[in-house]
Amino acid sequence: MNYQTLLLEKNDAIAKITLNRPDKLNALNNLMMKELETCIKDIEQSPSIRALIITGAGEKAFIAGADINELHELNQISGRQFAEFGSSVFSRIEQMQIPVVAAINGYALGGGCEFALACHIRFASENAKIGQTELNLGLITGYGGSQRLPRIVGKSRAMEMILSAKIVDAFEAERIGLVNKVFKQDELLEKTVEFLKTVISKGAKSLALAIECINASQELSLAAGLAFETKKFGEICGTKDFKEGTLAFLEKRKANFKGE
Ligand code: COA
Repeated sequence: MNYQTLLLEKNDAIAKITLNRPDKLNALNNLMMKELETCIKDIEQSPSIRALIITGAGEKAFIAGADINELHELNQISGRQFAEFGSSVFSRIEQMQIPVVAAINGYALGGGCEFALACHIRFASENAKIGQTELNLGLITGYGGSQRLPRIVGKSRAMEMILSAKIVDAFEAERIGLVNKVFKQDELLEKTVEFLKTVISKGAKSLALAIECINASQELSLAAGLAFETKKFGEICGTKDFKEGTLAFLEKRKANFKGE
């Protein structure tokens, strides 16, 4: 499928979506969000894809936020619909059963920061600049920033970032746990792929259930989360990959996981 605002590449088992409006710093417009939804559904239906990278075209931006031309036209009703749709797309990404890494290669502002927060892991290039800048526009976050940012950096830091709309550089983002690692710009994608190759050497089912359990930890009480994990542990013990992984250890050889 050809997209106007995205590039989808599949290299072996790793897919990469590049938000592709570099002249507008990859600002998220309505068409891009719709294409993103279709693209995610396409990837979900491709069992050969074991991991996903999200990045931005060009050297300057990951995503400089939602398209402010479109934002300006919103009213009370369309604004809510806009947020509901975008939020549902990002939640779908968060709930994917394969690891999703944001490779933040420059500005990640507003909706761009929210997009990165919905990914499972965030790597950044040294020139990355990240912020929830909505309040500068007389807005608030609409794609999950007020909910995911405090879960990732803590309530106090999220308050500071959102209320001041301040933009943090890559190293500050790493220091506060907003990004996992910082790489030189020309190494960001290579290091992301290297990381994901290690990740996808694990069984697909283990990865999917681990993601599901960690996601659940953000929503459930500790007791409910522990109960959820024990249920999933039982599930994984019924898989061929589990038998293979444990047998491979006992036989002192490398496991050959088949995702079954
Ligand atoms: N929506 C629509 N267009 C955007 C955009 C956005 N969020 N962010 C950048 N652009 C466009 C600019 O309008 C400009 O288009 P033009 O060349 O047709 O005028 C182009 O992208 C390049 O941006 P520019 O502002 O010239 O680059 P810069 O290097 O001077 O500044 C930023 C970079 C990121 C600091 C600045 O573009 C900016 O503040 N963008 C808005 C960020 C924001 O508030 N996002 C949150 C939205 S919720």
